[in-house]
Parts: sequence; structure tokens; C-alpha cells
Amino acid sequence: MSDTRANKRFRSQEWFDNPNNPGMTALYLERYQNQEYTRDELQGDRPVIGIANTGSDLAPCNKIHVFLMDRIKAGIRDAGGVPMEFPVHPIQETGKRPTAALDRNLAYLSLVEVLHGYPIDGVVLTTGCDKTTPAMLMGAATVDLPAIALNGGPMLDGWWKGKRAGSGTIVWESRRLLAEGKIDYEEFMSRVCSSAPSLGHCNTMGTASTMNAMAEALGMSLTGNAAIPAPFRERMGMAFETGRRIVQMVLDDLKPSDILTREAFENAIVVNAAIGGSTNAPPHLQAVARHAGVDLNVKDWETVGFDVPLLVNMQPAGEYLGESFFRAGGVPAVMGELMKAGRLHGGAMTATGNTMGVNLAGIESADTEVIKTHDAPMRTKAGFKVLSGNLFDSALMKTSVISEDFRRRFLSEPGKEDTFEARAIVFEGPEDYHDRINDPALEIGEDCILFIRNVGCVGYPGSAEVVNMQPPDALIKAGINHLPTVGDGRQSGTSESPSILNASPESVVGGGLAYLQTGDRVRLDLNDSSMNALVDEVEWARRKAEWQLPEIRSQTPWQEIYRTHVGQLAEGGCLELATAYQKVGRDLPRDNH
Ligand code: FES
Ligand code: MG
Repeated sequence: MSDTRANKRFRSQEWFDNPNNPGMTALYLERYQNQEYTRDELQGDRPVIGIANTGSDLAPCNKIHVFLMDRIKAGIRDAGGVPMEFPVHPIQETGKRPTAALDRNLAYLSLVEVLHGYPIDGVVLTTGCDKTTPAMLMGAATVDLPAIALNGGPMLDGWWKGKRAGSGTIVWESRRLLAEGKIDYEEFMSRVCSSAPSLGHCNTMGTASTMNAMAEALGMSLTGNAAIPAPFRERMGMAFETGRRIVQMVLDDLKPSDILTREAFENAIVVNAAIGGSTNAPPHLQAVARHAGVDLNVKDWETVGFDVPLLVNMQPAGEYLGESFFRAGGVPAVMGELMKAGRLHGGAMTATGNTMGVNLAGIESADTEVIKTHDAPMRTKAGFKVLSGNLFDSALMKTSVISEDFRRRFLSEPGKEDTFEARAIVFEGPEDYHDRINDPALEIGEDCILFIRNVGCVGYPGSAEVVNMQPPDALIKAGINHLPTVGDGRQSGTSESPSILNASPESVVGGGLAYLQTGDRVRLDLNDSSMNALVDEVEWARRKAEWQLPEIRSQTPWQEIYRTHVGQLAEGGCLELATAYQKVGRDLPRDNH
């Protein structure tokens, strides 16, 4: 495509070069000129490129972006653009209480307001830690100015006593060893800290690596962006090229609405299964789709993604970490293998200006130990089942958790395939879980299933990653490392626990989980993707009639605003009113004086 800047009037010129309103133009000019910019830069034929910086001291997973800024700006300058960096509200998964999930929609809102209200023609979205990526994509989808994602990249691989130590995954493993009495508090700290040897986001295929793979699979970044480890020289190069590329995207008017199509989302769902991606991807992608005005449903994750094989051998589903994934070819190699097998829409447009099919031509796995071929995968059918029944309208399950041991413990009747029963143990939240999990009165055995409720978007608030509950210490000492768990919250993408998550609607808005009691029998039937409490209808109706809303107390104004407007995880956990606003970057704001 050709460079059309000479005859193009940029959006930023409505601020910086508007002879119809000299007073305003002067006001806008003088205050931006008093920093590094000249009048010629601001009024001339160069687009202004915003850089949404998600890195800060409070956001260590994204801190690398502070150091990438120079390279991004150099790339923008090199292509004839004017860079303007601005801060994004921090969303640090391991720092923010009660949960970083609460802040995804806040950072989204703030990004929309910045992109709409300032003289910006296009934007580089810096991504990394779990919720930063969807927050940036959601904002770009709403505003619909040209936008490109740049990941900060995963940390280097962690090592502990000669073995790979993966982010998060080592926490869950160490928690079990501590419960068994095999390690002490100090070793727990040392083991876990060994998993974080450098700047970057989680080095496992947790939610961060997953969501950056999703951004790339959607076509919102340059090819190969997701997997480059943060400290590698290739990351600097990617920052420079991304800066260069966004300028041309503005000149070509290549917008999120050209890229975020139904086909793009189907590609992302397929890639998520193939990488062993996080159960957090469905609500985040659902949110991006809704802000983009694309029709996507939680059921699509089963219909489009369920029978896709697992290709990536990376923790928590496999063995390796981010460095190996990058050397094996990263997301392009996975997509190349999927493309060869006819699993992807090759015609989907991407940020490169070419279709996905063109981007991936000739790319395949460079190391089949780490990225398998489609014909010889780690596992077949790696996608999610989407369950429903009297406990919820929808909840996600990774069926890979159905091991032989699971079958032995939970099969409802011999000969009846894929139908499981268990006794329910119900907790009212993570505090209740920690207080009572080792209480002998609950008689938790290997035939039990653990439930947690009041931890969804409205209940927590924000929806907490607390569903992957550990069995009582006594069971772990007896060799039972996992019990199935169910909840209206989420679970860390770094956990491989056998969980049923994201139950919607959540209990505090009257979802069926609210009426479950400890001791109830529960049946999971994978033949028809159902899960039900085996409680007769009269008794169920009685419990429903007697149900009382648990106390909900907001601690900050944002928590109250969030709770008032948030929807359910199945619909993306969006601020519902925000989904009505589309392409707002095309609608110029009024002058400010
Ligand atoms: Fe930030 Fe995992 S905690 S990326
Ligand atoms: Mg987490």
C-alpha cells in the first residue's frame, strides 16, 4: 500500500492545525511545543502515535516497557511519526488486591477516554501481565483508531536445583510439598522466587503468555511478537518494528475493525486449545469481541475449539518454559502447524497489512519436542467443554483433567462412560475455605468435589482466582494431590487443577450455586455437557425461596461502580453500558475552551 501522507488530514490536526479556530489551535500548540515537539512536527504531515505504557514500578510484569520506550519511539520517528507516551493504570496480577481483574475494566475505561480525548492518530498498546492485554485490546476495539499490540515478553526460564521452575506452577507444587511437610517456609520462598529470574511476565503458558498469543492470533500484533523473552535482543527489534509499523497503519487507515472479525476470534479459540491456554482467555476474548461488536458466545469455545489437539509442551500442561517455546518458533510455528492442517482462517487481515495466511507462509515448528505437529500432538481434544445445568447456565472445563484416576474415583456406574458423581463440599469464599478445609467434621474424602461461591465479578468483586483449591493436608499426605473443584470465580492460568470455572450466573446474583449445600450429590455428564446437583425440585425450590443475599460491602468507589455495571464472566465481565459505545475515535470530541 502506498504512503498517502501528503494528501491526508490527520485526526491530530483537528487539535494542532485548525485555522477555523486559531485560539484553540494556539492553546493546543503552545503547551505541546514547550516539551520536545516543534510546531512543524505537530502541524505537518506526521501522524501522532500514542504509546500506552503499562509498565511501572507497581507493574513489574510490564516494567520492561519502560526500557522499550526508546526503541518504540525510534521506530515511530524512523517512519515519520510523532510519538507521545502516556501511562496506563497499573494492573499487576500479583500486586493488586482484592484482584487485578477488578482493574481490567478501569484501565479499559481510562484508555478509551485518553484515545478519544487527545490528539492521537494511532496507538501502540504495550501488553504483558494477564489483564493488561485484554484491557488494551478492549479499549482499542471501542475506539477503533489504528492500533498495534507489543508484548513485553516472558521472563527467562526459572531453575530450581537443576529443574525448570515455572511461574505460578511452582507455587502450586510447593504448596503441596509444604502441606506434606517435605519443605519448610524458607525453602518455599526460595523455590518460588527462583521462578522469576529477570524482567518479563510469567514464563509458563499462564494467562499472560496466553493472552499475548491471543493478541497475535487475532492479528493485532506483528508476527512473532508474543513469545520473545523480555531480555532478548529480538524484543528490542520487535519494539522498533512495531513503532515503524503503526505509522504505516495510520497512513493506510488499517483499524481494529478491519482485523477483529469473527474469523479472527475463531482463529484465536483454535490457537488457545493448541497452546494449552488459560481458562481466563474466554472471558477476556468475549470482552474484546463485545467491544468490537463481533458476535461471539461462550458456547463457541466448545464448538470451535474442543477437538483441537494440544501442540505446545509448556508448563502447566507440559514440561518447558518460555525460552524453549520461543526457540521452537513461538506462536507463528503453532499457527503454521494449524494452518497446514486446515484449522485456521488464512484470509483474516492482520496488523502487518497482510492476511494471516501470508504471514505464516512456510513457517513450521523448529523443534517438535516443544511444538508438536498436528499429526503427532501432546493430546487430542485439548479445548474446553462448556457445561450447564441447575448449578449454572455455563461453566468451563478442560477435559484433559479426566485422568484414569479421576475415572476410578468418580465414575457413577460401571459401564456408563463419562458420567461422574461426587459429594459436594461448599465454601463461601477463600477465607471460609482456609478456615475449614482441614476440619475433620467435613469428612472430605477422595470421592468429594470442592465448591466455592461468592467469588464472581459482583461477589468478590472482580472475580477471584481462587477456584483451584488444594485438598486437605491429610488427603495430600495420602497421595491425593487433586480434588475436582467448581466455582463462580476463576483460576490461575498457571494451575493444572481439575476445575470447573467461571460459572455464570454467579451465586450472588442468584445463580444455582447459591442453593447447593455440603453433602449434596452432584453429577457431571460429559455426554451432554451437563452438571447438576441431584436435589429434588421441591427441595431446590424451597432453598431458592429461602435464599438471602450475603452481605456485599464495597471498600472503594470504583468497587461500587464496578459492581453496579459489570456483567457475568460468560459475557466477558464487561461494564455492560460500555458495550453500547462503538468506534468512538471516529466521533471527534468538542473543543475544551
Ligand atoms: Fe503478571 Fe503472571 S503475574 S504475568
Ligand atoms: Mg493469576
